[in-house]
Amino acid sequence: MSKQNRINFSSKLAVVAAAAGSAVGLGNIWRFPYELGQYGGAAFLFFYVLFVIVMGFPIMLSEFAIGRAGQSNAVGSFRKLDPKGKWWLIGVMGVITAFLIMGFYSVVSGWTLEYIYQAVTNQFSGKDSITLAANFSEFSSDSVRPVLWAVLVMVITAAIILLGVKDGIEKSTKFMMPLLFIIIIAMGIRSVTLPGGLEGLRFLFHPDFSKINSSVLLSAMGQAFFSLSLGMGCMITYGSYVNKKNKLSHTVTEVTILDSLVAVLAAVVIFPAAFAVGINPGQGPELVFITLPNVFSNLPGGQFWAILFFILLFVAALTSLISLMEVVVAFVTEQFKMKRVPVTISVTLAVLVFSVMSSLSFGAWKDVTIFGMTFFDLFDNITSKVFMPLGGLLITLFAGWVMPLNSLKQEVSNNGSLQVKWFGIYLIIIRYVAPLGILLVLLNQLGVSKWIGL
Ligand code: TRP
Repeated sequence: MSKQNRINFSSKLAVVAAAAGSAVGLGNIWRFPYELGQYGGAAFLFFYVLFVIVMGFPIMLSEFAIGRAGQSNAVGSFRKLDPKGKWWLIGVMGVITAFLIMGFYSVVSGWTLEYIYQAVTNQFSGKDSITLAANFSEFSSDSVRPVLWAVLVMVITAAIILLGVKDGIEKSTKFMMPLLFIIIIAMGIRSVTLPGGLEGLRFLFHPDFSKINSSVLLSAMGQAFFSLSLGMGCMITYGSYVNKKNKLSHTVTEVTILDSLVAVLAAVVIFPAAFAVGINPGQGPELVFITLPNVFSNLPGGQFWAILFFILLFVAALTSLISLMEVVVAFVTEQFKMKRVPVTISVTLAVLVFSVMSSLSFGAWKDVTIFGMTFFDLFDNITSKVFMPLGGLLITLFAGWVMPLNSLKQEVSNNGSLQVKWFGIYLIIIRYVAPLGILLVLLNQLGVSKWIGL
């Protein structure tokens, strides 16, 4: 019955590396720390972890199950499991989301290449934070240089995608993910042992619940979706490449833990470092691009750590971009029966349009706004605060109510060969708890909850 003609990842390790490669990215190392800094340290962490447990885990399991049952891309899998309905539109929304995310993601990934270059040429040494901040804004507001880096990032991503699921995605993530772990652990140790570093840890683990409000809750939920690559069919696509013998619940547990671990480790690298040199951790997206060079510039052997850190950031970003591009490429090649090469090239060119818009948001187009946001902020906010939660909501409803129940159960229990005593709880979560939770956070943010007396 099971069609094994679809390409499969060749081992359990390969599945975890690819999925963790997708999950662990700029979201963990670049965005999570600055959100923690802005939104009250451990208080934000508390809600983040809560969302990961009640929404992240069950949604990731559902996505894997949909993909492996459907044996197809983010759109095709819905079609296979529910040929008459319109649920495949979730996949279409996912593909659009992938474009928007790649648009701003490629720009920040490009920044990491510039910073690897600056680190290698020893440009941080001896500079203070004001100079480094000025350098960052001068670079990021340029109309050409950051765009060229983004182009290079997308070309590298496309090259790996062109090599295919096994030789591209699997081989590259199996090599890059262990590298990433070694680097981040070494950096965590270095950072905590800096003079004054412990104060940063105290800030990190001391909750300030007064900073929590409805928009912070939405940010924490959006961050959980973004960080785990959920709500847009990424894990559906990867799930379709997972072998029928793989224990999905184990894979999901491992990926979720690894992802949260890297996010916390990133904060453990950045906060002690920021406190050690007296930088306010509440600043926004520039945090890692200003704080860390500043730390490195004052440190013996700092150049080495700087190179290492920005390589870490780049590797994390690249494995995530690969997964985003695979969502689109798998969709177009399969649904329109087209060849991988022309599709990958066209997708790359199309993404670059969004990249240019995002990059210019920091300079020439910084006054061009929609709903009061630059293109960069718009792509960032609309994906993680609207499309992904909405996608997640619809995916839980699909898995819980629409997809044939025995098909869902077959996937999570590997055709009944695994004991899944928790299946009932999982079902309650995807049928009621997660969708209602998402809805509540969204409505709360829109202010609707006040009208209905919540
Ligand atoms: N999870 C990645 C990060 O934390 C970003 C990412 C990769 C992503 N693939 C995705 C986000 C799919 C949403 C959907 O950086």
